[in-house]
Amino acid sequence: MDSDRRIERVLLVAIESLSSPASPPGLLAATHHAVFPGGARIRPRLCLAVAAAYGDPAPEVTDAVAAAVELIHCASLVHDDLPCFDDAPLRRGQPSVHRAFGEPLAVLTGDQLIVLAFEALARGAFHAVASGVMDARKAVRFFEVLAAGVGMPQGIIAGQAWESEGKVPLATYRRAKTGALFEAAAVLGALSAGQDGGAWGALGQRIGEAYQVADDVLDLIGQPEDMGKPAGRDGALGRPNTAMELGLSGTTRLLQRLIQDALESVPTCPRADDVRSWAMELGDRLMSACRSRVAGVAAASSA
Ligand code: IPE
Ligand code: IPE
Ligand code: MG
Ligand code: MG
Repeated sequence: MDSDRRIERVLLVAIESLSSPASPPGLLAATHHAVFPGGARIRPRLCLAVAAAYGDPAPEVTDAVAAAVELIHCASLVHDDLPCFDDAPLRRGQPSVHRAFGEPLAVLTGDQLIVLAFEALARGAFHAVASGVMDARKAVRFFEVLAAGVGMPQGIIAGQAWESEGKVPLATYRRAKTGALFEAAAVLGALSAGQDGGAWGALGQRIGEAYQVADDVLDLIGQPEDMGKPAGRDGALGRPNTAMELGLSGTTRLLQRLIQDALESVPTCPRADDVRSWAMELGDRLMSACRSRVAGVAAASSA
């Protein structure tokens, strides 16, 4: 099964596990809406790419960690779109969860998806131990790694909290709000293949930071109809934005450097070239999305 179908299937199984006559139907519908249709699914794809570098010896475990990472990401988007954060009406081309279901259910949807992510991880840890991929002590690492990607001091929650501080260290903010979950995705992919995992953190961090830098460019000059989400939220809300801080050419240079650093940080492993190709393709996609918008803006201003 290809990676995309594999990811959709495992997410659907996770969301359907919530379905019960006892479940409040509104919350059930809102959690489904938050996960489907998906976006780039880039974080679970990173998990799968890293596990594949070792031949993906325990696919059930990889599926579980990939689902956990994407569920956390979906939760972060639901909370990020709330009126108290970015107040965004649109996500993935459809109304954001609070617009479709109201704020109370959106808060609970984010909470529920975080709980579901850790349940998925528990299933992955169980399979890993039961199938002999790792011992129970090592399986605890799954929880430590995901928790570090989500919480304080360096995970998403800390990243979002920097927006409530007066002075924001921009790189720290990018690394926490976005890099940290990519780091967890890469490390979890390696752990699910029975590896130590730590050597993959740098690749995840750098790809994640590059991803956020590209997103900052698109927030500044992108088109909502291309992105399926609003543009200009950072400027309107006074959010720290790399492209606003460094300018478009400085940001493009930073993006290029981060992609190069990511490629250089792929650790030695049986299929390192496959991971490098995967990262290069992503880097090319981020660069060309930014460059084509920069060119579009230049053409419009000289017309
Ligand atoms: C959006 O992430 C938030 C950022 C960290 C830039 P994605 O661009 O991966 O969102 P989806 O999952 O594709 O919608
Ligand atoms: C989102 O950052 C990062 C999260 C942790 C949710 P942004 O606010 O820049 O992402 P978008 O542009 O809304 O997707
Ligand atoms: Mg935000
Ligand atoms: Mg936002």
